Amino acid sequence: MSNPKWRGARLMTKQPGTIHPAGHSGRTQSNKAAKPAAGGSAFAREQELDQYFTFRDDAKEVEFKRHDMPTPWLNYLSNGTFHTMLSHAGGGLAFYKSPQIWRITRYRFFHLPTDRSGPYIYLQDAGTGSYWCPTYEPAFQKPQEWKSSHGMGYTRFEAAQDEVSAKTVYFVGPFENSLIWNLTLTNHSTEVKELNVYAYAEFGMMEFMRELQWQCYNKHQVSVQYHDKEALIYKYGVENQPKPDETPLVYMMSDAPLAGYDGDREEFIGSYRSESNPAAVEQGGCTGSTILGGDPCGALQVQVRLQPGETRTVNFFLGTAMNEAEIEQAIGHSREADFVTRSFAALKENWDSYLGAWNCELPDKDAQRMINIWNPYQSQRNFLFSRNISFYATGTFRGVGYRDTAQDILAVAPLDPEAAKDKVRLLLGQQYQDGHVNHYFFPNEGWDPVTSIHSDDHLWTALAVWDILAETGDAGFLQESLPFYDGGEAPLYDHLKRAVDFTVSRLGPNGFPLMLRSDWNDQLFRVCREGRGESIWTAMQFGTVLLRMKDLAAAAGHPEHAADYDRLYEEQKRLVNTLGWDGQWFRRAVMDDGRYLGTAEHDEAQIWLNAQTWATLSGMGEPDKALQAMDSVRDILDTELGIKKLHPSITNFPDPADPLTNYNKGTGENGAVFCHANTWAIIAECMLGRGDQAYKYYRQLIPNIAMEQAGLWRYKAEPYVYASNLFGPESDRFGLANVSWLTGTAAWMYVAATQYIMGIKPVLGGLSVNPCIPSSWEGFSVSRRFRGCLYEITVKNESGVCTGVKEIRVDGELLAGTVVPVYPDRSSVKVEVLL
Ligand code: GLC
Repeated sequence: MSNPKWRGARLMTKQPGTIHPAGHSGRTQSNKAAKPAAGGSAFAREQELDQYFTFRDDAKEVEFKRHDMPTPWLNYLSNGTFHTMLSHAGGGLAFYKSPQIWRITRYRFFHLPTDRSGPYIYLQDAGTGSYWCPTYEPAFQKPQEWKSSHGMGYTRFEAAQDEVSAKTVYFVGPFENSLIWNLTLTNHSTEVKELNVYAYAEFGMMEFMRELQWQCYNKHQVSVQYHDKEALIYKYGVENQPKPDETPLVYMMSDAPLAGYDGDREEFIGSYRSESNPAAVEQGGCTGSTILGGDPCGALQVQVRLQPGETRTVNFFLGTAMNEAEIEQAIGHSREADFVTRSFAALKENWDSYLGAWNCELPDKDAQRMINIWNPYQSQRNFLFSRNISFYATGTFRGVGYRDTAQDILAVAPLDPEAAKDKVRLLLGQQYQDGHVNHYFFPNEGWDPVTSIHSDDHLWTALAVWDILAETGDAGFLQESLPFYDGGEAPLYDHLKRAVDFTVSRLGPNGFPLMLRSDWNDQLFRVCREGRGESIWTAMQFGTVLLRMKDLAAAAGHPEHAADYDRLYEEQKRLVNTLGWDGQWFRRAVMDDGRYLGTAEHDEAQIWLNAQTWATLSGMGEPDKALQAMDSVRDILDTELGIKKLHPSITNFPDPADPLTNYNKGTGENGAVFCHANTWAIIAECMLGRGDQAYKYYRQLIPNIAMEQAGLWRYKAEPYVYASNLFGPESDRFGLANVSWLTGTAAWMYVAATQYIMGIKPVLGGLSVNPCIPSSWEGFSVSRRFRGCLYEITVKNESGVCTGVKEIRVDGELLAGTVVPVYPDRSSVKVEVLL
């Protein structure tokens, strides 16, 4: 029997006009990227995707029709403290606050079979003994009908077998720190159905790294005990664990009477078995095991008798609490009749309110869906988890990345400015008095931070603070006194100024900022190890920050600083346009040996995307150069699947014995389409007024569009959230998406789409409206919450232009300029814009 997965792949490669069959060579020698992997009409490709998933925009959901996706397609369920990462097929893990030290369940990264373990339910016909899982996986017997859906903070599985249907909704509610497994069973037959229902989770040993190293000893320091309120309690208490007093107990319980339980994985699963065929399920039910040392799990058994036509609901809860008394309270709450419905309603209300701050109607429904739903959702998850844990990232070493989180704030500021402020406070607590910051830090784990100094990290904060100020108008924030990492405290504005001063104190021999450990491009450390390398891109980032700092200085009551900021800006600008200019594009860096990186003089890595885009973002590139640089991006770096980070990819540069990067050609940091950096090309094109080009760059990376272009079995990652990068045309797997979910792409795509393409951008004095759209759009509308008032904006583009506001009317009255003011005493205003 042929595997349906391969049926899908052949279907794709058989399309007429296919250029590279999946998995075969797409290598190009030309300077211009080759066409992407998939051929055939867009319609055929869209149809292919339709066999796998469908968007349900009204419900803010994406529905999956098959379990055998190329990779687990994830969702994150969370109340900010208790988190679960869950795939479309039920694999995933739960953690409390930190996946490093409080990982509750086990997920086997990189192992086969993929996507194990998870919070699984087994439904067994008590008469025949046959059993299946509503999640499709992992039982061998599969349901006759099945689909799953990810929504905002929940995942739902709908399945049926032998005239019994099961709907399971997993979510983390706001009232308790628990994963709720809400199972609804219906008997569609004319006979009584007797079912054994099992809920199973394999407990991890909280500290994942230590588990890998010390499991053989530490497993005997954990226990799973039965509590007479019909719950299992898992205790992790291991010698030398970090923060023992903050380590919670784990409980697992149901709101239905238990018919059995197991706390010992060996008893429930059995030896040489797996989650596909648990011994307890096959051999007559749970055994009543507990452990004082061993391999822990939580398995609960409940018996359900369903009359013909009857529907019954059973809920399971996997949660944490600090002690037994709190667990007893949680058990009490969770068993209240309306607890689960109240929890779900509150979850929904939170998301509706969060996403309600912005709603647009666009001619492009793919863009509209991303902007209204999935992009802000993904951005909020990045804000919560930084780059910590996903299918790709094991959640073992990265806490909060300073630069990553500072950028994540940009997409949360418009929707939840108070949370954005809190994050700024957290970040600035990692700043030293001299202005530099820790690179990663571990607020939950209490570990020492990673202290490498990068030329860009400390500068990002000013962008976030400026955006928060523009959103809220609250200049008082700049006066808040915040501590430094190395002692003392100062007003927030002073923190930002010290970041500027730090860069000024670390300028290199040519006058550009020293690269230090690296700049935004992590890989650049190899050309600046001796400490003399300089970053031309950081000069541009610094320039962007200096422009914002002028505004912030005025708002903080320090207008006297403006002249300094101006002077520094002009100095860097001069360098960028002289030493930084290569003739067709801007150079990227100066290496330790004084040679430039990113110049036509070398054979490899001649042109780098960031130096072209930020020349415009910073306003530093002289107009003809800025334009020429972005033309070079279009001509050399752009592909049908996004813009490459650099070209040509590196194999021997600068020294075959010590190349700049070990990434294979066209992958990761080496000539891949780095989606995060693509966002700045969209912004740059908008700033240059070239809306068609900006939109081309935007649309080609909308995940389901990129997937359509590449083919599902080439692209592989989720079609509803951005990935960090796609393999580039110099790789034979051009179009393969990597490191989805947790990436700076999310925040910046949101900024690019809302503030630059739609052009609705909070500024200190109001809401600036200055769209730069594709000329084919006849208009669009947005309703946006801004400083307590709802702005209902409609844009008309009767002249078929990209940009250029002819007139704006606010509640019928003509406005001078393009900044719509703040209306403290109106609850809503109508803004009509004519391009
Ligand atoms: C990764 C890192 C980010 C870095 C980028 C480019 O996304 O998380 O900090 O800027 O790679 O190297």
